[in-house]
Amino acid sequence: MAELLADKDRIFTNLYGRQDWRLEGARSRGAWNGVRAMVDAGPDWIIEQIKASGLRGRGGGGFVTGVKWSLMPKEEDGGARYLVVNADESEPGACKDRQMVGGDPHLVIEGAFLASYAIRAHNAFIYIRGECVAERERLQAAVEEAVAARLIGKDNIHGWDFELVIHHGAGAYICGDETAMLESLEGKKGQPRLKPPFPANAGVYGRPSTVNNVESIAVVGTILRRGAEWFLGFGRPNNAGTKLMSACGHVNRPMVVEEAMSTPMRTMIEHHFGGVRGGWGNLKAVIPGGATCPMITAEQAETMLMDYDSPREFKSMMGTGTMIVMDKSTDLVRAIARISRFFKHESCGQCTPCREGTGWMWRVMERMAVGDAEPHEIDLLLEVASNIEGGHAICGLADAAVWPIQGLFRNFRGEVEERIASYRARRPHVRGATLIAAE
Ligand SMILES: Cc1cc2nc3c(=O)[nH]c(=O)nc-3n(C[C@H](O)[C@H](O)[C@H](O)COP(=O)(O)O)c2cc1C
Ligand code: SF4
Repeated sequence: MAELLADKDRIFTNLYGRQDWRLEGARSRGAWNGVRAMVDAGPDWIIEQIKASGLRGRGGGGFVTGVKWSLMPKEEDGGARYLVVNADESEPGACKDRQMVGGDPHLVIEGAFLASYAIRAHNAFIYIRGECVAERERLQAAVEEAVAARLIGKDNIHGWDFELVIHHGAGAYICGDETAMLESLEGKKGQPRLKPPFPANAGVYGRPSTVNNVESIAVVGTILRRGAEWFLGFGRPNNAGTKLMSACGHVNRPMVVEEAMSTPMRTMIEHHFGGVRGGWGNLKAVIPGGATCPMITAEQAETMLMDYDSPREFKSMMGTGTMIVMDKSTDLVRAIARISRFFKHESCGQCTPCREGTGWMWRVMERMAVGDAEPHEIDLLLEVASNIEGGHAICGLADAAVWPIQGLFRNFRGEVEERIASYRARRPHVRGATLIAAE
């Protein structure tokens, strides 16, 4: 078995909420330690360290965090600039951010302060998913503690004025897209913006802004404390660090855990998540990240590593590292039909391929789930899907709606074909069914 992350190397030491999440408890676990010295080293030092650590965005896209920060305009014009922390996490299967925010809110606030300083922002928002009421309340309480202790706020002990606002979303998945989030923060309907301009040039209120996933932000303080080299020491090249990962579905112990990047998926499932229900041999398929990621087969799950590069060999993605495990009892066609319904429901409707296409794909998938389709409709569905994806829409939701369907047909096409054949055999009035039934 691959070597697992030692407790001494965990960034999130209160992931399970067994310890004190408040300031005193967080400080005893290291939070806020050395922040003044980091500020004294300067914003450029922070950006260089984060670049050197190899940290890549934990929101799914994997953009290099330090590089993103350096895209903010060099020249300051005296106006506001903002950090926006993305804690919207609304993708089916994903629940890593929520648990971390509840257990380690001070690491989030510390990271938001340091990242804001690095990009020279005095203001930041944390946009938290509407359903996460308890986590939002805890985050708010932690902000108040940090202000009272003068760690943040005006005239704080670190010498960089910093106001942090917790913004509660209303539960729309699309508000997780960075530009929809900016619209929503401004009090408008959460619909993605056309790019360019990119947020670094025109973000919240038209001012330079950086949007980062909340996990990307919460690891910053510890990386700076322990050193870029330390973080770089985990995972394969290009896939550095530790990462929150989780499993739901047919595992014996669904949970969130912090583990080194590039840990084999099988090790994750067997060691951390208690194994597949009924044993490894009962595994049918895994969706490696949230619902957007194309599913892989049990054979592929045998060798896949949980990092950015390995899933690409199987035409999939790690996404947010929040896997959905499905055993042999799973009706994969029905599962993907349900996921298609989610994307259809969450499409904001601005772009025709997404607005019309997600609904069309869902309706076809619903019929395929019962077998009520013509065999040639599989190729038609895949053709339409390939026209919906590929950057033909304003944001990534259109592509995200297509990938689960492509994953199903790439790996389990035979299952859909069999279902169609058996449906047609049971209904002799269906064109061609007599022939199928006679076979
Ligand atoms: C439809 C849609 C939903 C998204 N939802 C989230 C989300 O819930 N959390 C998140 O961090 N990123 C989400 N993203 C990605 C964000 O747009 C953005 O890339 C990310 O917050 C950047 O942070 P990172 O660089 O730290 O990963 C979503 C993107 C799309 C297109
Ligand atoms: S791709 Fe879909 S969700 Fe994204 S902007 Fe277009 S219609 Fe809205």
